[in-house]
Amino acid sequence: MAAVIGVRGGVGASTIATSLAWQLGEKAHRSTALLDLDIHFGTGALALDLEPGRGLTDAIENPSRIDGLFIERAMVRANERLSVLSAEAPIHQPLMTDGTAFFQLQEEMRNAFESTVLDLPRHMLIQYPHMVHDAHVAVVVSELTLAATRDTIRILAWLKSNAPQTKVIVVANGVPSGGALEINRKDFEQSIERPVDIVVPHDGKLAAQAAKLGKPMAEVATGKMAAPFSALSSMVLSHATEEGAPSGKARSPAARSRWSIT
Ligand SMILES: Nc1ncnc2c1ncn2[C@@H]1O[C@H](COP(=O)(O)OP(=O)(O)O)[C@@H](O)[C@H]1O
Ligand SMILES: [Mg+2]
Repeated sequence: MAAVIGVRGGVGASTIATSLAWQLGEKAHRSTALLDLDIHFGTGALALDLEPGRGLTDAIENPSRIDGLFIERAMVRANERLSVLSAEAPIHQPLMTDGTAFFQLQEEMRNAFESTVLDLPRHMLIQYPHMVHDAHVAVVVSELTLAATRDTIRILAWLKSNAPQTKVIVVANGVPSGGALEINRKDFEQSIERPVDIVVPHDGKLAAQAAKLGKPMAEVATGKMAAPFSALSSMVLSHATEEGAPSGKARSPAARSRWSIT
């Protein structure tokens, strides 16, 4: 299971989460669930041109009803290998849950699918910290701005103390070409005290095209823009495999240095 965490709103976390889930289904041939935890304003369904349905809101209202059959009925199918659970909960209703529903959903999705991708807005991380405990990988999505640098530092520190076993992948999204950077990659990496693993360039045209077609950015992307998405899914998968590897088996030094949080 991978949790995708945007360090700030608008950095492109949902774009990355949807693309990752699509990539795991379509390219890695794994049955995949996308759980969008932006309960009021989720875009998981919208981005794939689907109706969100009532599944997620029902689950929150009646967590005791969540079982395998519930999951089968509530998940909305995007394609043969990708199903989505997303909501557009009424905005006059504050989120009233102790998080049991999310925990149950995670559990059932783990049974029903080979991969689960959580789109986890940062306020949900604060509210329901247990959501990342079972994640093999936290994909931390940031951008190269000063505010996002500060927030990346804080979220990485949070992950280190709250989910030390979870591997971290840092994605710098929407990186403009040329001199329009608030902070360059080197200074960003120095500040967050670790390397950026994946850089997704800014491509407004591609983002608009994906939105219009109701397809994940990874599906619409070609060439230079497609590469970071496939690199991300390979990284996520290699973490999951490492997790399943026998404990006595040492990882190669190259892999260790690549994955370690410095
Ligand atoms: N690499 C990119 N280049 C250009 N636009 C992007 C890129 N990534 C995301 N976007 C756009 O940015 C906006 C916010 O993305 P979204 O994934 O909803 O952010 P978040 O979930 O972090 O709030 C969307 O309109 C999306 O199409
Ligand atoms: Mg989002």
